[in-house]
Amino acid sequence: MIQLAIFEDYQSLSRQAAKHIVDLIRKKPNAVLGLATGSTPLGLYQELVNMYKESKVDFSNVVTFNLDEYVGLPHDHPQSYYYFMRQHLFSKVNISTANIHFPRGLFEDAGKACREYEQQLQDIGRIDLQILGIGSNGHIGFNEPADRMTLETHITELTRKTITDNARFFHDSGEVPRKAITMGIGNIMRARTILLLANNDTKTAALNAMFSGVIDPNIPASILQLHENVLVFVNREVAKNLKYRSTALVN
Ligand code: F6R
Repeated sequence: MIQLAIFEDYQSLSRQAAKHIVDLIRKKPNAVLGLATGSTPLGLYQELVNMYKESKVDFSNVVTFNLDEYVGLPHDHPQSYYYFMRQHLFSKVNISTANIHFPRGLFEDAGKACREYEQQLQDIGRIDLQILGIGSNGHIGFNEPADRMTLETHITELTRKTITDNARFFHDSGEVPRKAITMGIGNIMRARTILLLANNDTKTAALNAMFSGVIDPNIPASILQLHENVLVFVNREVAKNLKYRSTALVN
């Protein structure tokens, strides 16, 4: 079931998402979080850091799994997703490095890198809360539109749309890696709860596919309609053009 919550602005959306995570960690100090990178969760991570500084949350037993990483970028590359997480969250809270899990973007054997991450995901069982952004083409993680969905960790060829969308983080689009290693759709769907955030109206069409009643591998996020517990947080701007039919929770 998908529940939609609409927030006045990005800050209140981010604050509520952080509160949701903090409530979970208070109930379950060793909660397993699935994390996303990109622009959307930046406010959320900032709020988590603020709450940590105010001693409202303890990350010492929290376990994290990130969704994806660019192929070919080492952890210390400023555009790598590992670097992003270190910069915006990991280096600012008391999370234990041993509890941080990331797919390896730098490898000689792609199959081995995928199997390793898959094994770590299988060993942990279920992610308690998976944070997701959504691509303007409907991707979740880096599960790009395709004829079929891939369930497990895999290497994916980024679409032209994703490369253009993500070029803003690089000097030019020629520098954006062409491939990524990503959790598969099965890994994401196994999470107990999914919290998807969207605050940009370039995501409207992709979001509407999540409320359409159709599951389409060309819009990977549409699979979320089959999940038992999805929360979608959007701001008012995005909400304006959504075709969500049930009563939305307005915050
Ligand atoms: C990032 C990820 C992607 C992003 C999506 C939206 O780890 O998995 O699916 O969530 O591309 O990116 P932004 O938030 O930059 O619009």
